[in-house]
Amino acid sequence: MHRAHIVGWGMAVPERVMTNDDLAAMVDTSDEWIRQRTGILERHIAGEGETTFTLSLKAACAALEVADRDPAQLDLIIVATVTPDHAFPATACLLQDALGAEKAAAFDLSAGCSGFVYGLALAADLLAVGSYRHALVIGAETLSRITDWTDRGTCVLFGDGAGAVLLEANGASGGVLSSVLGADGSGGDLLKLPAGGSAQPTSAETLAGRQHFVTMQGRQVFRFASRVMPEATREVLARASLQVEDVNLFVPHQANDRILQVAAKGLGVPEGRMFSNLARYGNTSSASIPIALCEAVEQGLIKRDDVIVCVGFGAGLTWAAAAIRWSVPLPPPPPSRRMTFWRRLRYRWARLRSAWRQFWRRADARLFHILYDEDGNRKHRRDDA
Ligand code: ACO
Repeated sequence: MHRAHIVGWGMAVPERVMTNDDLAAMVDTSDEWIRQRTGILERHIAGEGETTFTLSLKAACAALEVADRDPAQLDLIIVATVTPDHAFPATACLLQDALGAEKAAAFDLSAGCSGFVYGLALAADLLAVGSYRHALVIGAETLSRITDWTDRGTCVLFGDGAGAVLLEANGASGGVLSSVLGADGSGGDLLKLPAGGSAQPTSAETLAGRQHFVTMQGRQVFRFASRVMPEATREVLARASLQVEDVNLFVPHQANDRILQVAAKGLGVPEGRMFSNLARYGNTSSASIPIALCEAVEQGLIKRDDVIVCVGFGAGLTWAAAAIRWSVPLPPPPPSRRMTFWRRLRYRWARLRSAWRQFWRRADARLFHILYDEDGNRKHRRDDA
């Protein structure tokens, strides 16, 4: 049986940075409160024209660059997000088109902040059984678009960004060793986007009631997270026949530094082994773990053969963990010039191909309208009469 190996990784965050002082000018809060209660100093916020798709595309291109692979090799694209560009089409389909990943299946996955690890586990299993060879798994969010900027209990927490990994199936040892996925829907109300779905379609009342923004019962989510992070970590390690001491680095969901401290204490590991970049990005939901992974690699905190555990929790309620033995050399070899040139060509070709298909679909519909009646029967030609 093959294993799924992370062979490429990439991240993208918007340029615009919002500091705690910026927030203090908007709502009744302070830099001191946010630092002490969360560990967040600043976050990146999407600007005009920046969406979950545009951030995903940048992260995906970076991951393909690191792996030096052709996007046409992709068999599967999963975008984990709670802030897709549209309810449908899936953001993953927009990405499939933009990358020119012509043979890839593509779908979005909604599992709150656990989404990326859910996607990673799912893709790894599909690769392991031989269904696919290459899968792109992305966690991407523009939470700023569903944040109530008048609610100090939530708006200080969130940020925007995207992170991607490219998984490849091969017979080498290591890669994704085990995973744990869980859910407890009884806690769904603790973290919710109340309106805009089939239960409460958008209406003047839902808009007036500010029901298109995240609502959260922070203390209860905090308690849930503090319990589930160590539990999921222990379970995923047991499934891989590993001990907590075998783990070189924990890459947890970045929600609150105090949650990371509680998790580290619960597992009996020094805080230094819990990667944290929360201070600069805030909680980017499903993007937080892949962004953290990219930064941990960049900072030289991961070496070949290291064991890392990615663990997250989020809306649903959900939780997820994956144990991974890092199996590619670091730093990665630079991409070949030929493949870099080819990839650029592929992205341009993908844009042209997409525009041509859209044009042809419109022309085809027009032609059909001219030649056929509403029941699909060929209209009479003049000489039939
Ligand atoms: N600035 C100043 N004061 C504040 C702020 C703020 N931004 N927010 C809350 N307070 C006040 C409250 O009103 C309260 O005041 P009171 O005691 O007079 O009533 C006091 O601070 C304490 O409030 P708590 O809610 O108890 O604060 P807590 O220490 O629990 O921190 C927090 C709140 C940061 C939200 C924490 O509970 C937390 O991090 N929870 C987990 C959140 C999380 O991980 N969510 C995942 C969501 S991601 C997703 O799935 C989309």
